[in-house]
Amino acid sequence: MKIMVTGGAGFIGSNFIRYILRQRPDWEVVNYDLLTYAGNLESLRDVQDEPRYKFIRGDVADASSVETALQGCAGVFHLAAESHVDRSILDAAPFLRTNVLGTQVMLEIAQKVGVERFVQVSTDEVYGSLSLDEPAFTEELPLKPNSPYSASKASADLLARAYFKTFSLPALVTRCSNNYGPYQFPEKLIPLLIRNALADKPIPVYGDGRQIRDWIFVDDHCDALVTVFEKGHPGEIYNFGGQCELMNIDLVKTVLKILGKPESLIKYVKDRPGHDRRYAMDISKVCSQLDWRPKFIFTQAIAKTVQWYLENLDWVESVTSGAYREYYQQQYGDR
Ligand code: NAD
Ligand code: DAU
Repeated sequence: MKIMVTGGAGFIGSNFIRYILRQRPDWEVVNYDLLTYAGNLESLRDVQDEPRYKFIRGDVADASSVETALQGCAGVFHLAAESHVDRSILDAAPFLRTNVLGTQVMLEIAQKVGVERFVQVSTDEVYGSLSLDEPAFTEELPLKPNSPYSASKASADLLARAYFKTFSLPALVTRCSNNYGPYQFPEKLIPLLIRNALADKPIPVYGDGRQIRDWIFVDDHCDALVTVFEKGHPGEIYNFGGQCELMNIDLVKTVLKILGKPESLIKYVKDRPGHDRRYAMDISKVCSQLDWRPKFIFTQAIAKTVQWYLENLDWVESVTSGAYREYYQQQYGDR
């Protein structure tokens, strides 16, 4: 079976492609990615010569390019997105273009080509924010996104629902909590703090640092996506999370301890506007209906993650310097 992964050169997408090639030996993968600042083929160097893997550079909002790339694909895992909340606060426009229009184009072409499954990869952020005493998010809750990023993802989820209801496109929506693991772009909290700590630079902690996120190791998310693809029901929404709620400040201190760096590097800075206080996922639906649960233990997986960044500082430097993108442009031109 051939499947398309959009955004396969990003953090979760590259881990997901590696996961599929390892776990599903009879699957072929088309990686469809625009290679924005967040996408990097360096993250897939170890699989680039695998015959079951093919990369196509393209924009999810470009219908004719999507249609050509999607020929022969039985399924789509739609991960391509503008994904960073802080950037969406600075400029929401690219978020609407890629996350909303791009998703509509993907759904439309998937419908036209007749794919058997379309997995819309979404986020816990669409539910908004919880106080400490509120129960975790369930799939039935109304959407209350608070940032342009989460509003664009919520819109995309609703489009997936509409294409299921109106056109019977077999679309499923997954919503996952904060991922951590290798190949995450160092604008997100964990890789940013590792990079800064190694350079003895201050670590910016927003507001009082007592915001809570539920952390999941990226391979658990990858496993969840395949589980939904194989066992889920079209039209349904599935929540995933690591069952690991942590305050940002505690997470930062944990990583500093693994690195052997002092807490004096922590610098409290102005809070993110509209900053969600707490996310927590109720995963009882996927546990009971799809027999899925997270397998990785935070203390072990975060240590493994930190170790990966320490051993791959050249990757960190290449994606942040843009050197790799320049190299790609020279080698392959603007395609
Ligand atoms: P990322 O920013 O690391 O990667 C996004 C990828 O999409 C990049 O490779 C980029 O080049 C590509 N892309 C961007 N615009 C494109 C376009 N117009 N056409 C084609 N490709 C384009 O993101 P990530 O953290 O890997 O997240 C992947 C998906 O998972 C996103 O949809 C995100 O909303 C969702 N998600 C992320 C998390 C998380 O913790 N990172 C949690 C839940 C859900
Ligand atoms: O919850 C899932 C979401 O997780 C995904 O949908 C997003 O794509 C992904 O980027 C992530 O969003 P967050 O905003 O939660 O991740 P980020 O790493 O940007 O921030 C994590 C927390 O740390 C958040 O409360 C903000 C805080 N933070 C972040 C940065 C970058 C800081 O305190 N300092 C920082 O420098």
